[in-house]
Amino acid sequence: MWDQRYNEDGFAYGFDPNDFLRSEYLRIPQGGRVLCLAEGEGRNAVFLAKQGYAVTAIDQSSVGLEKAKNLAIENGVEISTIVADLADYDIGSEIWDGIVSISAHMPPEVRKKLHGQVINSLTKGGVFILEAYTERQIEMDGIGGPPPSQKEMFMSLKELKSELNGLDFVFGSEAERHISEGKYHQGQSAVVQIIACKGG
Ligand SMILES: C[S@@+](CC[C@H](N)C(=O)[O-])C[C@H]1O[C@@H](n2cnc3c(N)ncnc32)[C@H](O)[C@@H]1O
Repeated sequence: MWDQRYNEDGFAYGFDPNDFLRSEYLRIPQGGRVLCLAEGEGRNAVFLAKQGYAVTAIDQSSVGLEKAKNLAIENGVEISTIVADLADYDIGSEIWDGIVSISAHMPPEVRKKLHGQVINSLTKGGVFILEAYTERQIEMDGIGGPPPSQKEMFMSLKELKSELNGLDFVFGSEAERHISEGKYHQGQSAVVQIIACKGG
């Protein structure tokens, strides 16, 4: 499904970073190592690399990450890429100063395990930034998020607080916002946004 989407012309979610990440990235320690989860075609990773971070993008789609590498070259920056299934990939221990998760919807058992790893793999003072669609997206006009048949892949603030127990929530909100991020993330949408830090 994802390779097919990324084989289409253009960039499915645009070239520009996610709005929430753009407004909050400075919370990540400057110049630090950042892991972008489920990063697809690389818009967020390239943006962060341009801000001076050492960025690694991970995704199961080799087609998406190939486009990400080219986007980095076009922008005069470098990013590292890892093609892997996050269901069974070890993202390491205490190595990332920032972890970014934008619309990284996965089955709950995979997501819970991954979020457990996020807690462990952040450095002390490291920051996790996430935006994802909530189940209310089903009632919205906007395009984006899992299909209604996969309701369990939406996220909620309550679940995230439980899954990320151990991080300090600096910000957490379920909100509606207008999204215009490529042709597959468009319109009035229901999202959850969090910023959570690992205490030192
Ligand atoms: C909606 S796209 C978001 C892409 C990117 N984060 C962005 O904001 O442009 C979801 C991405 O999740 C990736 N993905 C889904 N399940 C995954 C898994 N188990 N392991 C790795 N990547 C996964 C897909 O390949 C896809 O690139």
